[in-house]
This record gives sequence, C-alpha cells and structure tokens, in this order.
Amino acid sequence: MTTSPNPLREGLGSDQSTPPCAFVMFGASGDLTKRKLMPAVYNLALSRLLPTGFGVIGVARRPKPDFEAEMRADVSRFSRRKPLDEAAWRDLAAGLSYVQGDFADPATFASLKEALAQLDATRGTQHSRVFYLAVGPDQVPAIVRGLRESGLVQPPSFAADAPFQRVVVEKPFGEDLESARALNRELSSQLAENQIYRIDHYLGKETVQNLLVFRFGNALFEPIWSRQHVSYVQITVAEDIGVEGRGKFYEKTGITRDIVQNHALQLLTLVAMEPPASWDADSVRDEKVKVLRTLKPITGRDVLARTVRAQYAAGTVRGDKVPGYLNEPDVAKDSTTETFVAMRMAVESWRWGGVPFYLRSGKRLARRLAEVVLHFKPLPHGLFRSAPGATDEPNALVMRIQPDEGISLRFATKVPGGGIAMRDVTMDFRYGAAFGTSAPEAYERLIVDAMRGDATLFTRADEVEAQWSFIDPILRGWHEQNAPVASYESGSWGPADADKILRVGDAWRKP
Ligand code: BG6
Repeated sequence: MTTSPNPLREGLGSDQSTPPCAFVMFGASGDLTKRKLMPAVYNLALSRLLPTGFGVIGVARRPKPDFEAEMRADVSRFSRRKPLDEAAWRDLAAGLSYVQGDFADPATFASLKEALAQLDATRGTQHSRVFYLAVGPDQVPAIVRGLRESGLVQPPSFAADAPFQRVVVEKPFGEDLESARALNRELSSQLAENQIYRIDHYLGKETVQNLLVFRFGNALFEPIWSRQHVSYVQITVAEDIGVEGRGKFYEKTGITRDIVQNHALQLLTLVAMEPPASWDADSVRDEKVKVLRTLKPITGRDVLARTVRAQYAAGTVRGDKVPGYLNEPDVAKDSTTETFVAMRMAVESWRWGGVPFYLRSGKRLARRLAEVVLHFKPLPHGLFRSAPGATDEPNALVMRIQPDEGISLRFATKVPGGGIAMRDVTMDFRYGAAFGTSAPEAYERLIVDAMRGDATLFTRADEVEAQWSFIDPILRGWHEQNAPVASYESGSWGPADADKILRVGDAWRKP
C-alpha cells in the first residue's frame, strides 16, 4: 500500500547552521537543568541541530561524582523522545563535564576556564560559548561579574566569524520594577545588550510563534483583528498542578509574578501588537514594547474593580484529592499569596480602544490549558433569530497554545434538511494531525536561537521593565488596600468572583 505524501511532514529541519560553541549550564544541580535543559540539548542532538563542534559543562556548588550518570537518568526520564538513543547519548556524553564551585569564588571561574579550553581542544568549540544561568536572580550578578573578571566573556566583536560569548538569563527577572532595573543595570555594566538573552520559555513554544505567523502570514485575519470586529479577547493560562513542593518560592512570588508578568503578558503583546517592519529581533520587540506601554495602568480603586486574586482550597484534580494552598509545605497558615488571578485590561490604542482584554491564570484548575480567544462582535441583524437551534453566540476564534495545540473557529451553519435549522460548529486545525510530529520543546528552539545569535524570541531590557511597570501597581494596590483573597476549589475553573470583573454580557469561555 502506498501512502500519499504529506508535504507538511517534510522540511521540518533547519536550513540554518549553528556555529560551534560550548554550552555552559550554571545551576546544573537544579530542577531546570534536569527537566528541561539537558533533555533539550539531547533532543537537539537527536534532531541533528547541534553544531559539529559542541560540548556541555555543568557548574554548581554541590559535588557530583557522576554527573554523566545523573544526566543520563534525567534525560531518560524527561526527554520527549523515548527510549534513550544510546549512540546519540554516548556522543553527547563524550563532551560533557562538570565543574564544582561557588559562584562568588574566582577559583570556580578558573576551573571553568580550564574545562572550556579542554573542550576547545578536544571538541572543536572554537572559543565560543553560551552561558545559561539557570539560577535565582540573586545569583546572576556574581556569575556575570565572575565571567567578566575571569575574561570568559569579552566585549563583542563585530567580525562575522569572531568567537562569541552570550549569557542566557532565566526568569524570574527581578521581583518588581526596581529590582529588574537594578538587574538590567548590573548586566549592562558587564555585557553588551546583544550578549544578553532574557528567556521567557513561552516564546519558544511553536503555538506562541504561530500567533505571529497566523496574524501576519495570512491576509485573511488581519483586517478583522481590531475593535471594528472584535468584542473582547480572553487569555487563559491554566495549570492543574499545584505549587509542587515550591511553597517557599511561591510565597515570595505568587502567580502574578510567576506567570502573568511574563508568559501571559507575552501572549497579550503578540495578540495586540502592530505588524513589525521586519522579522528581526528589534523590530518585533519594538512593537511588543509599544503594546506594553499602551496598557492602561490598573491603580487605586481600579485594582479592586478590575482584578481578582484567589488561592486554591482542597479539592479533587483528575480524580485525586489534593490539599489547599495553605496546607502545602513551607506556606504560612495566614498566607495571602495568590495562586489565581484574573484581570480586565485595556490596550489604549487606535486598534484596540474599548476592547476588554481579560486575562486569567491559576494553579490547580480543572486542567492544563493555555489559549487565546477572540470573541467577535454580535450580528448587526438576526436574520435567523427564530430558526430552531439559533444561538446568539457570536463567532469565536480559539488559538490553543497547549495542550491539544491548534486553532478553531466557531461559526453557525445550517443543519441539512428542509427549512432553516441552525447549529454552531467549529472548523479545526490541529498541529498533531497536520504535521504528524511532536513539536520541539520550547527550550530546544531557544537554546538553538541563542547559539545562532537570534534574540527575536528573547525579551529586551525595556520590555521586561515595561512588564513590571504594569504589574507593580497591582501588587501594591492589593497590599495597600488589603484586597480580599478569594478561595476556589482545586479542580474548578477558579473563584466565582472572577466573573465580577467582566463587562455585562461577556463571559469566561468554558473550555
Ligand atoms: C514556569 C513557572 O515559568 O512556567 C511554573 O515558574 C509553571 O510555575 C511553568 O508551572 C509552566 O510552563 P509550561 O510550559 O508547562 O506551561
């Protein structure tokens, strides 16, 4: 039997080559390295997207007598492709080493320098490096200073084939505007902006990048992408997991800093931005920053009227009984930290004036789901109002970021048969079915981009600061006005209070 070729299944590789370099992971004993970074590097190896000259060095404080075995076990467990391909792993492991040391100690950087020289000699990494800082924001300044003072990072050269050194900085990027500014100042005192890659892994998701391709790679949708046709926009980033043993971190962070300040606001900028002049890092980021600056600040009494914060109570998620937030380890019994937030935002621009942008994000909700929904305006005239099955539901375009990635458009149709009876149907595009492949993990894409020097999917200093400028007054307002912390049952879609911020007639989409 022959199967007809599906052109979508081909050509998923890359036509761009990646220059030789070493990949250095600071924070190599942490969760991110084990769950995301090392599995991403391994999958890049499988997809043949790593440069020919390549090696990996882990750096952390703890001794690791068998780093390779540890990484092997983590990759076997967390890789998206299983089982482990022994030959690919052997090849990667031959260039894998570990440096133990304190990030404030110059001796750590001296050892790292030696390990890198070794890689240059044995693996052809040609003096180029990507330093990935998978550490908390308080450790970033010491590492960056250590890299500069040891000469491991040099001022960038403009020669095309000169070795490069780039530093990838993980979120959280500061804890408010002031600390983010201080961190940006510290980074820019040691590095050029084009050596700094602030990561927001949502930008590495295929479906997030597709928001731009969908909008600006098709002539069909852009004309209706505005206040003339859109009634309101909803962005949901829901998770069914709780704080997963990260009580201490969450107490300081809350979901607003953890997810809204970065991932959710990034989704909003991509939906609301104007077309960039070109697909390059600064043109795209210029447009995103403009959106963040046109967000109407939520201050004073508006904080109570336009936002809702809440905490999960005990409940059942996917059939399992789970404790409430206040009973999680390392959480204060009287904690007011929010694990759910909903807000009504306004993008004050010609395109979006008067269109509410609703955003909600929560832990321990009914299921994992991230989506963007455009609810279109109602019909100007209900010609079929009295037809059986007619609803007054306006059209909706749903862009599912994850899981079950795809795009669907809801519209009314005629039910076959005599007379006019109607039913709402959806036109569906699913990534899995169309491309027949599992999408690369966000970290895979972003690591390759950092190696290639493409910062389009990384956030710029002014962008991060604009995000905090919007978030800070909300956090301050909650604190100063002693805003109530609503409660919601784990496994639900959040507190009933989330409806109070909606304009009359608008509704949260029931997934
Ligand atoms: C991280 C947050 O940035 O994103 C986590 O710190 C959250 O709390 C995670 O669980 C969600 O990422 P993803 O890719 O699973 O949606």
